[in-house]
Amino acid sequence: MTKRVYTICFLLVFLLSVLASFPSHICADDSEAKEFVLTLDHSNFSDTVSKHSFIVVEFYAPCIVFCNIFLMQYEKAASILSSHDPPIILAKVDANEDTNKELASELEVNGYPSIKILRNGGKTIHEYNGPRDADGIVDYLKRQSGPALTEIKSADDASNFIGDNKVVIVGVFPNFSGEEFENFTALAENLRSDYDFGHTLDAKNLPQGESSVTGPLVRLFKPFDELFVDFKDFNVEALEKFVEESSAPLVTVLDNDPSNQPFLVKFFDSPHTKAMLFINFTADTADSLKSKYRETAEHYSQEGISFLVGDVEASQRAFKYFGIKEDQVPIIIIQQNDGKNFLKPKLEPDHISTWLKAYKDGKIKPYKKSEPIPEVNDEPVKVVVADSLEDIVFNSGKNVLLEFYAPWCSHCKKLAPILEEVAVSYQSDSGVVIAKLDTTVNDIPRESFDVHGYPTLYFRSASGNISQYAGSKTKEGIIDFIEKNRDKTDQQKQPKDEL
Ligand SMILES: *[C@@H]1O[C@H](CO)[C@@H](O)[C@H](O)[C@H]1NC(C)=O
Ligand SMILES: *[C@@H]1O[C@H](CO)[C@@H](O)[C@H](O)[C@H]1NC(C)=O
Ligand SMILES: *[C@@H]1O[C@H](CO)[C@@H](O)[C@H](O)[C@H]1NC(C)=O
Ligand SMILES: *[C@@H]1O[C@H](CO)[C@@H](O)[C@H](O)[C@H]1NC(C)=O
Ligand SMILES: *[C@@H]1O[C@H](CO)[C@@H](O)[C@H](O)[C@H]1NC(C)=O
Repeated sequence: MTKRVYTICFLLVFLLSVLASFPSHICADDSEAKEFVLTLDHSNFSDTVSKHSFIVVEFYAPCIVFCNIFLMQYEKAASILSSHDPPIILAKVDANEDTNKELASELEVNGYPSIKILRNGGKTIHEYNGPRDADGIVDYLKRQSGPALTEIKSADDASNFIGDNKVVIVGVFPNFSGEEFENFTALAENLRSDYDFGHTLDAKNLPQGESSVTGPLVRLFKPFDELFVDFKDFNVEALEKFVEESSAPLVTVLDNDPSNQPFLVKFFDSPHTKAMLFINFTADTADSLKSKYRETAEHYSQEGISFLVGDVEASQRAFKYFGIKEDQVPIIIIQQNDGKNFLKPKLEPDHISTWLKAYKDGKIKPYKKSEPIPEVNDEPVKVVVADSLEDIVFNSGKNVLLEFYAPWCSHCKKLAPILEEVAVSYQSDSGVVIAKLDTTVNDIPRESFDVHGYPTLYFRSASGNISQYAGSKTKEGIIDFIEKNRDKTDQQKQPKDEL
């Protein structure tokens, strides 16, 4: 569950890099009129959904920056789609509201924003896997609200439908009946939120492949690698597996081309370990780096690693996310699902495969993003960075209340003076430390702390009991919690540095 949340944030870091900079009113009160997106909650969700054959619902958490950026695009899309015939309804649910949490979990919302497409009064639910910008949302939802299969009757139909920048699956049939056709239709219904599906009576209409086949046959078109693949097993599960496996590029490309977005979504959604090489696409060395990287990818793709190559020009947010600098390119980063990262800056083309082998052999040490340890740390609320987490939180022998925050989060700003008051009231008590960590610039050990919203407060007792504080964000509430959970500290066992 946590993994998914991280993936999504991470994903949006990349996908939204094409959008303008963060809005300044993040987490602002959203009371201004937004008439096009329906607001739903636990009390009226089922009723509303049951009245629609097609409705889209976004589950969001107001204090996650990406939700806010997406919500603006979603609202714009809703205003455009309201005049579609018939209108396409977009709704939203604040999943952070306690009363809506059960609803969110029934719909398997496990990351924010999470967007669901509900059909037939809510009887069929699909994940929204479309673009994240308003125009993209509009196009995608127009297609989603129509039939799952598009018939291709001519070569022109085919070139319009298949295009040259996405995965499209076409069934070739001697007639549109029979079990093969039914199974293909079922496949299209199941996977329609991820791919476009077409059907034709004549393979001569299609731009690639043997044109004399009469089918039944499934031909998957893709804008990379071998360009098309045929498949003849009409078992629905086998078809699904075929589509999933054949539709991912060997190396996913991250640049400013929006048509790469669906592949990026797939890349970041995959359960695999992720290898990411960032290079300057216009530099002389780009081609040799790409080709060596591709060779390496071929070698390791069967070993649970997915590969991405990113252009430094399009990867600003990724650089910020990992705390790396442009002058470190070519740089390779490996991200494991346990949150551990491994990296190698200034990589030479010939060293790609040796470095990957060293990583596979467990010879590379994980990389931890951290701000420098502050030289002066004498405010009531102590500053903790990734590199001082051990000393201040785990090995200090003290009871520590630690706030995980993000600088842009207004709920964190509201909590700051309260936390300060708590810290002041413990200033003469050397057994308790109140501290904060900026999660946007420091990695945190996920095995100890499950942080997916801000602010998150954790308490570690002197003896090592770690618990999350879920009580009210008031001075009294927090102090009460500390007093209930703290251990008596051994005053002799002070750490050498006065905190
Ligand atoms: C659902 O209920 C909420 C809270 O009462 C309200 O704000 C919202 O407008 C309602 N939505 C609809 C579509 O009735
Ligand atoms: C239609 O095509 C199927 C194969 O998909 C075939 O088995 C069947 O005989 C055909 N039916 C007619 C009426 O031609
Ligand atoms: C259609 O799909 C079902 C379920 O996967 C399978 O049992 C059946 O054999 C398939 N039909 C054909 C003709 O492949
Ligand atoms: C990428 O390489 C080109 C050509 O060498 C250069 O002009 C450009 O400044 C480089 N970009 C970055 C971000 O280093
Ligand atoms: C740690 O916390 C748990 C639950 O809050 C409690 O049952 C346990 O006794 C605590 N252990 C210590 C060593 O304080």
